[in-house]
Amino acid sequence: MKLEEIKIIEQQALSELAEAVNAETIEALRIKYLSRKGIIPLLMQELKSVSKEDKPAFGQAVNKLKQSLQLSLDEKNSTFKTDAAPVAAFDMTLPGNWHKTGSHHPITLLIDRVSDIFSGIGFTVAEGPDIETEYYNFDALNTPEDHPARNAQDTFYFGNGNLLRTQTSPVQIRYMEKNQPPIRIISPGRVYRRDTPDATHTANFHQVEGLYVGKNVSMADLKGDLLYFAKQILGEDVQIRFRPHFFPFTEPSFEVDFYCDLGKTKGWLEIAGAGMVDPDVLKAVGYDPSEVSGYAFGMGIERIAMILHEIDDIRLIYDNDIRFLSQI
Ligand code: PHE
Repeated sequence: MKLEEIKIIEQQALSELAEAVNAETIEALRIKYLSRKGIIPLLMQELKSVSKEDKPAFGQAVNKLKQSLQLSLDEKNSTFKTDAAPVAAFDMTLPGNWHKTGSHHPITLLIDRVSDIFSGIGFTVAEGPDIETEYYNFDALNTPEDHPARNAQDTFYFGNGNLLRTQTSPVQIRYMEKNQPPIRIISPGRVYRRDTPDATHTANFHQVEGLYVGKNVSMADLKGDLLYFAKQILGEDVQIRFRPHFFPFTEPSFEVDFYCDLGKTKGWLEIAGAGMVDPDVLKAVGYDPSEVSGYAFGMGIERIAMILHEIDDIRLIYDNDIRFLSQI
């Protein structure tokens, strides 16, 4: 036996160890080299036949090999243990992690639905700014300086002639200024009023404005289109009624009620303001009131949402509580 042989055995063992891929191959190597009939105990036996002078050197070399191999095997084995455990515990039949997906807000969904219904009868969607001028929000809509709606208690003013629009009606003016009749638009959007929040009021809410201007547009068109809309959104059994009212920019003017028998709601509910566009408004945008006429309406979106989803407090719509939102 030569010392080189021991070196070769060591190199052989280490290269086999380097290629070991799991705890089982490590165990096989342990048996091959270190078990009772393994290579290293055999070397120990061979020591007997080594000459007296060489014995200490050989003995040391074999012992060193035994210890270092033992250590290397243990070390490598421990890396498998930590890696192997979670792999073994992975259960592929378990359901995956559930990630909540977002969805549209109930008000957005309803605005989309309202837009779809009116698109179906020839209306397009127009939009206007939330920050309006006093001119578009009031003056152009025939609402004089001393009208109570202009009161600072109802309107958020910026103090520079601008304000947060209190209604979507200014979009009527902006659109008519840029387009010629026939016009059929709806304009959904956010409006702002200095209301103290309670179950039926918030400082901002949504309206959908409607405007139809053309030759011979009449009250019958207004009633027919609103009834069509009401049936689409609340069902065939709905009824509508017009109550005389006043708006500065329509003449005659009405409040429109829908009769609902739906969940918690039973009875007449005020849904919209409406009327025939005042000839003065038509004149102000350069239309000839003897040639064209028009109707306009403005509906409260939250009102409709509250009926549809049986919501008894408008503030719930804006609390963004997932327990509420996910029900809709
Ligand atoms: N803008 C009115 C409001 O906010 C509603 C309305 C719109 C009335 C169009 C008539 C015509 O109360």
